[in-house]
Amino acid sequence: MKDFLRTVFMSAALIGTGAGVANQTMAAEPIAPSLNPNNILNVAHRGASGHAPEHTLLAYELGQKMKGDYIEVDLQMTKDGELVALHDETLDRTTNGSGLVKDFTLQEIKQLDAGSWFNEKYPDAAKKEYEGLTVPTLEEVFEKFGKDARYYIETKSPEVYPGMEEKLLEVLEEYKLTGPNVPSSKVIVQSFSAESLKKLHELNPDIPLVQLLWYDKAAEITDTELEDYKTYSIGLGMNFNRIDEAYVQKVRDHNLLIHPYTVNEKKDMHQLLEWGVTGMFTNFPDRLQEVLKEHK
Ligand code: G3P
Ligand code: CA
Repeated sequence: MKDFLRTVFMSAALIGTGAGVANQTMAAEPIAPSLNPNNILNVAHRGASGHAPEHTLLAYELGQKMKGDYIEVDLQMTKDGELVALHDETLDRTTNGSGLVKDFTLQEIKQLDAGSWFNEKYPDAAKKEYEGLTVPTLEEVFEKFGKDARYYIETKSPEVYPGMEEKLLEVLEEYKLTGPNVPSSKVIVQSFSAESLKKLHELNPDIPLVQLLWYDKAAEITDTELEDYKTYSIGLGMNFNRIDEAYVQKVRDHNLLIHPYTVNEKKDMHQLLEWGVTGMFTNFPDRLQEVLKEHK
């Protein structure tokens, strides 16, 4: 990861400063486009979840249509060891089921309605077609979007699901989304759990990793912590409400990407771009696309 990181940022730093021209002769390896800090990433948070029920294939499809650069997928694991796209450890908020995901088989979870809740909660955005949407497996997401999409995948509560990292790598390899012939920027894996990321880094050091930070931690970050994150990750994600311009610059000074979440208002998007973020998670990729155009 260190060599990978150095290549990514050395090339970007040169490109970013214009020194790249002076150093054309440098044999800098090609930089993965979406890991270039000069390319601002539009991450469709749980899909275009401001417009459609989160973590459904329809929300992901909408995120793609709205020019999101990445589909964000939160992972939970079923009783029979299948990876499913769901934010919460329980079924209650986003399905008509109740209880812990880990206590139900995939077949049982597939019976649930994962769309109607959205119509009830957001009547202004309600659509008949949302009724009866189901919880997708990670494999179904890859079946549908394949290599035409990029995936920003979060290992949620990995301590609850022993073996989640191995299963994730198995599915990624099955769908040929990792490996030497795949641009490394097809998949980014994120987690609040440093242990989960370090385990993934051990298992496959070529997958770009992003460390997510808790709300209360982001504001007091130290140089030592930043250098430690850099030993296994290429960037950080944190609540955008907890940071300021100095924070953004400090992270960037350590050559780390910075993807705050979850940014839904245009004024906040503009502000964060002014501060120098390298991307952001949003429920409205369409809005961020408009802001990016205004920012060019
Ligand atoms: O993964 C980035 C962001 O989504 C973290 O917060 O709770 O929305 O998964 P959460
Ligand atoms: Ca997430």
